[in-house]
Amino acid sequence: MIDIDWGNLPFGYEKTNANTRCYYKDGKWGSVEVTTDETVTMHMSATCLHYGQECFEGLKAYRGKDGKIRVFRWEENAKRLNSSAARVGMPEVPKEIFKEMLFTLVKKNSDFVPPYGTGASLYIRPLLIGVSPRLGISASTEYILILFCSPVGPYYKGGFKPIKVIVERGSDRAAPLGTGTVKIGGNYAAALNMSIKCHEMGYGAALYLDPKEKKYIDECGPANFFAIKGDKYITPKSSSILPSITNMSLQALAEKIGLTVEKRQFPLTELAECDEAAECGTAAVISPISAVVDPDENKTYTFGDQVNPGKTCVKLYETLVGIQYGDVEDPFGWISFVE
Ligand code: PLP
Ligand code: COI
Repeated sequence: MIDIDWGNLPFGYEKTNANTRCYYKDGKWGSVEVTTDETVTMHMSATCLHYGQECFEGLKAYRGKDGKIRVFRWEENAKRLNSSAARVGMPEVPKEIFKEMLFTLVKKNSDFVPPYGTGASLYIRPLLIGVSPRLGISASTEYILILFCSPVGPYYKGGFKPIKVIVERGSDRAAPLGTGTVKIGGNYAAALNMSIKCHEMGYGAALYLDPKEKKYIDECGPANFFAIKGDKYITPKSSSILPSITNMSLQALAEKIGLTVEKRQFPLTELAECDEAAECGTAAVISPISAVVDPDENKTYTFGDQVNPGKTCVKLYETLVGIQYGDVEDPFGWISFVE
């Protein structure tokens, strides 16, 4: 029996039974391997180390009341992995390989899929790295795809509790036509100093503005952004943010509960007219925002009673999480069962 306090898990790495790997060499992918090795041995001049030739993904598996394990929208993660890979010159991963690695991984670690009712889930991290030794800037010819996992609790300590975010104007995590639309390590490296500063100042995350005009909301460091204004679900349209699968799902759910979805440029100042605001993502799920603080403009936008999530966020959260854990019917075909 695994000794884990499922109800108090942080969002962190826990050693599990195994991970799955696949190697790309001589222009083709090999067969899927299962290993207990948590380390990767590579050449010190590997392209992922020097030139950031890497990308990653994040998705989750959930245990329902019926004991069955459900994976949420994995095909979207497989697609996005390939769009990230193409952006940094890496080969496409066939969907069938991704699927075999994912389902083998979850089966091998089924005892690490947290019990129903604990609020925890199994976070799955696909990672694709270029490992050929290079000195000049050029793409690898050899790659490793690894899928590993870890049981996790909420990304923000309080769980589904409002957090405060701070508007960051002093740096950008992505350029207007840069790499913000793909999930590569460089984007996160570019935001790490701000992330440290945010936590020191007591904020949950930084809210980035569009890097060109610094006028419109882009997204938070680890998640997309949306706000509720009357009966509207508004979320930024931008060429420098990650197309979030959670946000895409919430837009469908918002429409289903009668909200009008607006995906468009979202001026920061429009927050003054909004009723609710939140971050959304696989790790963040829905993290309601109680205040957006803009120190440079000496302005704070507040939402709700500062303690509880707003009613629309609650409704969206309960429906999304309900589908993920199998408590709410899945009319969209978002769930795949791991047999
Ligand atoms: N934006 C960023 C920068 C992220 O890292 C993530 C997390 O994956 C998201 C948005 C949310 O995307 P998704 O809902 O697909 O997890
Ligand atoms: C995710 O939500 O899956 C992410 O990759 C965000 C990361 C900051 C944990």
